Amino acid sequence: MTADKPLGVDVLGSKVVLFRDAATGAVQCLDDTCVHRGAPLSGGSMTVHSGSGKTCVVCPYHGWAFDGEGHLKDVPSAEPGRWPKRPIAASHPVSGQARFAGLPCASFGPRQCCRLTDCSSATQ
Ligand code: FES
Repeated sequence: MTADKPLGVDVLGSKVVLFRDAATGAVQCLDDTCVHRGAPLSGGSMTVHSGSGKTCVVCPYHGWAFDGEGHLKDVPSAEPGRWPKRPIAASHPVSGQARFAGLPCASFGPRQCCRLTDCSSATQ
């Protein structure tokens, strides 16, 4: 994963996009399907939202920008703030330390990304 390009990953059949927050270095994980029209967010770019300072992944289709918690931070065709304040993209907590196959471990609620192993102790 580079600092300036989101990375699409298939985790046991779940397509997710990983990107790194520029300020904290923390890995962020969202479903890799834009909630607007379904484009893969991993084909997009990254930007730092001027209001919050959070790194966002920008959808390649219409430019909607989402932070790592799934909040919509920008819609180029709409006036700022004319969209929900609650998270609308599915986000997944990422472990800061655990790795599986060289990738950070993310939680998918009742599912676990690393059913094949105990990722809480697997680090690289
Ligand atoms: S499909 Fe992503 S912004 Fe429209």
